[in-house]
Amino acid sequence: MTSPKLNIVPRFTTFSKATAYVVGVKTSGSKVSLADSPVELSSIAQLDLETLGVKATSESTFRLPAPNGAVYLLIGLGDGKLNAHTLREIAGAAARALPDAKEVVFGLPTSGKEETEALLEGALLGRYQFGSYKGLNKLPANVNAKLTVISSFKPSAAALTRIEVITEGVAATQDLVNAPANDIYPQSLAAAIQKAARGTGATVEIWDEKRLAADGFGGILGVGKGSSRPPRLVRVDYKPKSAKAHIALVGKGITFDSGGLSIKPAASMVGMKYDMTGAATVGQAALVIARLGLPIRVTAWMCIAENLVSGTSTRPSDVIKIRNGKTVEVINTDAEGRLVLADGLSIASEAKPDLIVDVATLTGAASVALGNRYTGLMGHGKGVDTLKAAAESSGELVWHMPLPADLKASLKSDIADIANAKFGANGGMLLGGLFLQEFIGKKAKGDEQIDWAHLDIAPTANNDLSPWGYTGKGATGVMLRTLVALAESYR
Ligand code: BES
Ligand code: ZN
Ligand code: ZN
Repeated sequence: MTSPKLNIVPRFTTFSKATAYVVGVKTSGSKVSLADSPVELSSIAQLDLETLGVKATSESTFRLPAPNGAVYLLIGLGDGKLNAHTLREIAGAAARALPDAKEVVFGLPTSGKEETEALLEGALLGRYQFGSYKGLNKLPANVNAKLTVISSFKPSAAALTRIEVITEGVAATQDLVNAPANDIYPQSLAAAIQKAARGTGATVEIWDEKRLAADGFGGILGVGKGSSRPPRLVRVDYKPKSAKAHIALVGKGITFDSGGLSIKPAASMVGMKYDMTGAATVGQAALVIARLGLPIRVTAWMCIAENLVSGTSTRPSDVIKIRNGKTVEVINTDAEGRLVLADGLSIASEAKPDLIVDVATLTGAASVALGNRYTGLMGHGKGVDTLKAAAESSGELVWHMPLPADLKASLKSDIADIANAKFGANGGMLLGGLFLQEFIGKKAKGDEQIDWAHLDIAPTANNDLSPWGYTGKGATGVMLRTLVALAESYR
């Protein structure tokens, strides 16, 4: 998708043909009425909205003709309590409802720059569509090509650039994740990030299978062994002179997860092209942070392999050796994300960063516990609070889950240092977190582990239910904005 032309204008002037004007509807008492809007509403002010079937419930939409061949998009504001987060979602829902409009003008009430920025961000997120594989049913070109927000609170040029860079990063992540696994495999995902890094100031280094073996990455190699398309480890490093801190990001990059020999049932395999979301997200987040020139060093580690079934696949009960020297008994080859991440967390720890954050579609259990809109957050040290604050500022939903030490007994192995899973164990999301925690190295001084946060995005990486707010179907690009907000918090 090409990026649209953005305009912020202080007031409404005139209606233009074929342009959609987004205005709010609210309930006052039991009546549905038009919300305050900078857009001229006299032609619809006298209509009985209820009789027409207009609803004010959050994000419900209704179209009415406007003067000069324009159209109004009425959008429900729910209880009418608007803030940056609700405006981001409402603007996103409006942009999604107007897939055919070339120009969209937002006439929603804003009460400050932050709200104007959130509105614009939501509109840009909501207009995303994935059309690369449409053959005969191509998406119309130039959809939402011009976005105008009427607001007397004009964001600075730098703020507008920031929103554009971030939303382009989210879209680039969505594009990588939505692409099917016959096109996105370890080598092509690594190459895609290398290409995307050009001109950003970040450097990219790629480990091929030979170098992975030489450097002791037994987790990534063990998972990738069953595929004819060998695994890769990618480091994206952004190291500004002014760096105030160093954060390491580690992403699960399983380009397809069949489960391996512990094979998934057919229905559970659908959607497993999304299993590389963590890697795409951390790679793109590092590039966004580089483009924004934030004064923080970011090293993203993309742990990429394809988990397939063949005569060379890792078997249940095989023992593999992770980069940090620990051995793992592979009880279940479908618990492969933690194996590639173990290598990633180990190498990330070697540089002694101030914080490590991993992002992974790790467990189906996370969706069982949290539903479809919350990302599971676990960690230790400053990790949890720092990520909670970053998620709060981006408007993305996370929920803090515990890492109960008693559950570790489920990961005891008779012959290796640790097992990767146990059949029938409770607390699958927490066990995933507990396993990963074993691979976080120590701080430069003392015996404490490096601060760490684990984001289980299995519930949120992909939306296969109804669209809502700025979230359409398919890849969501979730947590990229939170990672950027995290980097910004070190300013
Ligand atoms: N990629 C899956 C997790 C997943 C499931 C993500 C559904 C998105 C939607 C992961 O590799 C996996 O298979 N996890 C197992 C862990 C178990 C074997 C310990 C699971 O969730 O069942
Ligand atoms: Zn799996
Ligand atoms: Zn997986």
